[in-house]
Amino acid sequence: MDLIPVFNWICLFLLSILCDARGQQSSSYSYWNNQTSEDVIKDPATVVLLNLLGTYDSRLRPDSEGDPTLVSCKIEIISIDSVTEVTMDYKMTLILEEKWNDRRLNFERYDKNLKYIQSKSNMAELWQPDIFFSNEKQAYVHDVTVPNMFIRIMQNGDIIYSMKLSLVLSCAMNFTKFPMDRQRCTTAIESYQSLDEEVRLAWYHENPVRLIKQINLPQYKLDNNLTYSNRCAEGNGIFEGNYTCLEFSFILERELTFYVVQTFLPTSLLVIMSWVSFWIDITQAPARVSLGVTIILTMTTTTTGFGSAAGLPRVSYTKAIDVWFDMCLGFVTMSLLEYAFVHYLWNRDMESKHLQMASRKTRIQLPFIGWQKGKSKPDVEAESAEEVELEVKMGGERYNYSTTYRPLSTKEDDIEGGFVAYNGNAQHGKKHYDRRQDPVAMDAASQGGSLSKLVALNIDRVSRILFPFSFVIAVLAYWILYTYIVDDHFV
Ligand SMILES: *[C@@H]1O[C@H](CO)[C@@H](O)[C@H](O)[C@H]1NC(C)=O
Ligand SMILES: *[C@@H]1O[C@H](CO)[C@@H](O)[C@H](O)[C@H]1NC(C)=O
Ligand SMILES: *[C@@H]1O[C@H](CO)[C@@H](O)[C@H](O)[C@H]1NC(C)=O
Ligand SMILES: *[C@@H]1O[C@H](CO)[C@@H](O)[C@H](O)[C@H]1NC(C)=O
Repeated sequence: MDLIPVFNWICLFLLSILCDARGQQSSSYSYWNNQTSEDVIKDPATVVLLNLLGTYDSRLRPDSEGDPTLVSCKIEIISIDSVTEVTMDYKMTLILEEKWNDRRLNFERYDKNLKYIQSKSNMAELWQPDIFFSNEKQAYVHDVTVPNMFIRIMQNGDIIYSMKLSLVLSCAMNFTKFPMDRQRCTTAIESYQSLDEEVRLAWYHENPVRLIKQINLPQYKLDNNLTYSNRCAEGNGIFEGNYTCLEFSFILERELTFYVVQTFLPTSLLVIMSWVSFWIDITQAPARVSLGVTIILTMTTTTTGFGSAAGLPRVSYTKAIDVWFDMCLGFVTMSLLEYAFVHYLWNRDMESKHLQMASRKTRIQLPFIGWQKGKSKPDVEAESAEEVELEVKMGGERYNYSTTYRPLSTKEDDIEGGFVAYNGNAQHGKKHYDRRQDPVAMDAASQGGSLSKLVALNIDRVSRILFPFSFVIAVLAYWILYTYIVDDHFV
C-alpha cells in the first residue's frame, strides 16, 4: 500500500489546524494592537485590560524590588454565631476587603475616562496577597449564585479585592469564671509566604472592623467595642520571624439569666428544702434521713448532668459553677450530718441507761415511770423479780422498756400516783422519788439524760437560724468573689 499520499494528507491537515490557530491568535492580539477595529471590540475596559495584562507577570508582587507592598484590610462582620464551648470555636461570616496598589495596572495612560475595571472572577492572572486566617479551622467562599467575590482595578492601579467568607475560627476560652465568664475571641490574619519586607498588612484607616448589624447570640452579649491591632499578640501568629500579622478581637459576655433560672435557683431551693429537716421532730428518723438523702441525690444528679448539658469541655481546673455545686452539696450534707449528730445526742442517755441496766444493777432514777396504758398492772405482791414492760416518759417523749422489775413499795397509791422509784436491786434502800418535787433529782436527771437531749433540741433550734444565715453569707461571698475579685483572664 502506498502510504505517502495518506501521510501527505495528514501533514496537510495538521498544518491547516496550526495555521488556523495562529491566525486566531494573531487576530486576538490585534484587539489591543489595532484600536481602530471598532466592530470587534466595543468595551474600552476590555481593551485596557488586555493591554495591561500583555506583559503582566502575576508571580511577582508589585514593586518587587522596592518597598514592601502595603495591603490594607477591612472586615465587615455579617454574623457571628454558634459559639461552641466544647470545641472552643465560633462561626463568623464576613466580608473581607483587601486593598493594595499595583503600579503595573495603572491605566491612566490608556483611558482617562474609565474610572475602574471590575470583574467578578478570581482573576488568577493578577498578583494577590497570600492572606490567610491563622486561627481558622474551616472556611469557604460563598458561591451562590456565583462566587461572592470581586476585584476592582482603579485608574491609579489601586486594587480592591473583596469576598464573602464563612469561617470557623478557634477561640481559646477560659472557664474559670463560668457561667460568669467573658471570652475574648480573636481573629488573626497573616501572610502565608511573604515576609515583612515583602508584604505588609495594615488595617484601613477608619472603621477597619465593623459589625454590619446588631448581632444576637443565644447565650452571649457581644461587646460592640471591637479592638484591633496591626500586630498579632504573642502566640496568635503562626510563623516565627517577621511575618506580617493583623488581628482583631471582640468580647463575648455570657448572659447569666439562663443559668440563674436553670441552675442557681433550683439548687438554692434544694438547699432551702434541706432546712425543713430542722423543723421535723428529732424522733422522726425516717422522715429526716430520707429528706436529706433525697436532696443529696437530686443535687448529685444535677451536678453530674450539668457539664454535658451545658456543652462544656472537661477542663482540668475548677469552674465557678463547680464551686457553687460543691457549696450547695456541702450545705445539704451538713444538714444531714447535723441530724445524725442530734439523733445521737438524743439517744445517748437511753443507750447508757440500757448499758447500765445490763451491766450492773445499780440504782437509777427514771424521772417518770408509769404503767403502760392498756397493760394490766404487774403483780405488785409478787416476791420475785419479773419481766415487765415499762413506759418511760422523758422530755415529752415516750419510750417502751422491757426490764426486770421488783417493786419497792407495795403500797397501792405509790403505783397509782404514776411515780415510783425504780430500784434494780431490792436490797438497797426503799426510797420514793417524785421528780417534780425534788429539785436535786431534777438536776441529776437533766445532767444525766436530759442535758444531751436539751443540747440536741438546741442544736436543731440554732440550725434553723444558722444554716440560712451562713448560706446567705456564702452566696454573697460567692457572687462577690466571682464578680469583683477573680479577674477575667483571657487566653
Ligand atoms: C488595523 O486595522 C486597519 C483597518 O481597520 C488595518 O488596515 C490595519 O492593517 C490593522 N493593523 C494591524 C496591525 O492589524
Ligand atoms: C473599648 O476597649 C478598649 C480596650 O479594651 C478601651 O480602652 C475602650 O475604652 C473601650 N471603649 C468603649 C467605648 O467601651
Ligand atoms: C524582625 O525585624 C526586626 C526589625 O524590624 C529585626 O530586628 C529582627 O531581627 C527581625 N527578626 C527576624 C527573625 O527576622
Ligand atoms: C483562666 O483564668 C484564671 C482567672 O480568671 C487564671 O487564673 C488562669 O490562669 C486562666 N487560665 C488560663 C489557661 O489562662
